[in-house]
Amino acid sequence: MAADLLSIPSTYSLILELAALVILWTGFAIQRRRTYRRHGFTMSIALAAHAVAILTVMVNTFRGYFAVPGGANFGDSLFLLIFIHATIGVVVLILGIYLVGAWGFRKETKGCFKRKRIMIATFTLWMVAILLGVTIYAWITGI
Ligand code: HEM
Repeated sequence: MAADLLSIPSTYSLILELAALVILWTGFAIQRRRTYRRHGFTMSIALAAHAVAILTVMVNTFRGYFAVPGGANFGDSLFLLIFIHATIGVVVLILGIYLVGAWGFRKETKGCFKRKRIMIATFTLWMVAILLGVTIYAWITGI
């Protein structure tokens, strides 16, 4: 069973997203200690894991649904869930790139404060995307 799961690409994206989840909460805790530069770096690592998961696995599996006739069917609850998950995941990626890009790994973090609301939105959407991802994985693999 475990060997079967390791043979499907989705397992790798799940592992990457679960790693991102742990890093995200670490980044959240770091922010509480007011070490914002460290928080920025930690969130950048979570973002890199998220980007790798999307670009190496999810884009291909998502495209696969459009490659077969009737695969991309919005009447199918599983596809609908995958579509919502993918859309939120891409929004998180764009917002994350904006947040990290606007900071630019500089020593100064004062400018980041005004983007707090975007950070909360990104963090919340990320949680939703991961939760949906785990649900989809359980649905597809039947575990
Ligand atoms: C994907 C990227 C990021 C996410 C998801 C994120 C998420 C968060 C979250 C959830 C908070 C807590 C907000 C609250 O108090 O309720 C926070 C606070 C904060 N973050 Fe980020 N963050 C990200 C990137 C960054 C970057 C790049 C910087 C710049 C160094 C930064 C600087 C800060 C600062 C200064 C606060 C404290 C804001 C305040 O207390 O007013 N964050 N972030």
